[in-house]
Formats: sequence, structure tokens, C-alpha cells
Amino acid sequence: MHIDIIPYEGVVVPGKVEGKTVVVIDVLRATSVMIRGIGNGARCFIPVTSVEEAREKAKEINRKNVLLAGERDTRPVSGFDLGNSPQDYTAEKVSGKTVIMTTTNGTKALNKVKMAKEIFIGAFLNASAVAKKLENSEDVVLVCSGTNNTFSLDDGMCAAMIVDLLPVKTRIKLTDFAISMLKAYRSGKQNLHQLLEDCYHLNLLIDRGFEADVNYCLQVDKYDIVPRMQAGEIS
Ligand code: MLT
Repeated sequence: MHIDIIPYEGVVVPGKVEGKTVVVIDVLRATSVMIRGIGNGARCFIPVTSVEEAREKAKEINRKNVLLAGERDTRPVSGFDLGNSPQDYTAEKVSGKTVIMTTTNGTKALNKVKMAKEIFIGAFLNASAVAKKLENSEDVVLVCSGTNNTFSLDDGMCAAMIVDLLPVKTRIKLTDFAISMLKAYRSGKQNLHQLLEDCYHLNLLIDRGFEADVNYCLQVDKYDIVPRMQAGEIS
């Protein structure tokens, strides 16, 4: 198995993901939100890259039970139904709903990997389930969404955790960046909160009052599901 980790969405190019098994990771908070939303019965998430596109998409698909969701600069978008706090994605709010979502980084990353062979959604919340799903894949790319076009440690450590959890330990070939992530992760994996304590995006969210979101997203293996994106819809 060949494994690459891409540090942030800004450096995703088609040649890196085309024909490969891709896992998109945005621990804080887009992919964590999607996992909780699907876990609570959402029909699907449709990731789009702008607020305007989200509104247009809602008109275009003309489905009943559509919610507009996401954030800009960490905060809910004015006029949208949901922000990007996982706790908001309760069964009461999302069950049976199509959630059209736009976020600063995560939904951008998802829109850049559409040429992949298969696309899965990963976070700490489902790390073991993702590792198991990858068991028989040959060419795997873990795409960290990052924050504002830069690497974000939370995503990198989640990618490394998934690699560390792979049931197959032999015949794995890692790129140099993936090796670096794995070594960093193994140096502090006993205490995830401590490992991530200096992470920029994590501290920004805490400073803005989203500490509960951070604590939610740092839970490991709360879910046993691996949402998948097909034809632009995640379910
Ligand atoms: C994103 O996708 O950009 C993030 O989830 C941002 C955030 O929630 O603050």
C-alpha cells in the first residue's frame, strides 16, 4: 500500500488524487460535523465552495427538506439554518435532510478531489473505521484540509492516527511527509489534547467560544461509520 498525506487543500492538484482512494480530513470542524450529521440520519451533505453556490444549489436541486449550513471565518453564515458546530447537528434537526454545506477549507478540499477513485470522510471521530475501510486499498491519499491555505496540526495528526491504526503493518510505503506526520503523532499520541495544544485553529476556535466543538471533535472512534462522497453527495 502506498500512502501520501497532502498537508492542505491549497496544494491539492488533480494528478495527486486521480484514480486513488482519498480520505478528506477537516477535524475542526467540517468532516467531524459531516460524520455526526450522517450518524444522526442526515440524507446527505452536498459540499460547495461559496455561500452563493449554496443558495443556488438549493434552488437547483429543488428537494424538500434542504438545510443550508456552514461557516465563514468560523462563524455561522447569516440566513443559513446551521453553522459548523457539531452539537447543532442533532437527529431532530438533520434526520432525513439534505445539508448543503460551505466552509472555509473542508468543502473546498472535497471539491478538489472529485477525480479520485473513491472519496471517504475522516476525522478522529471515525479514525478506526476509516483505517479498516482502507485495508485493501493500494494507493491512498489522506487530504488534510488545513486552515486558510496552510497546514493545520489537527488534520495532520488525524491523518497519522489513521495510518497508525491500519490493520496491515507490512507492505506500507509512506511518502516523506507521511513519515514525518507519523513520527510526530507517535511522539505524543498518548495525549491528543496535549499533542494539539499549540495548534492555531484549535486555539482560534477556543478563543471565539467554540471550546465545546473542539472537545467534541477530539473524541476518538465515537462513530463506526465512514461517509463516502459519490456524484457530489456525501452519505
Ligand atoms: C473549514 O472547513 O474551513 C472548517 O471546518 C472551519 C471551521 O469550522 O472553523
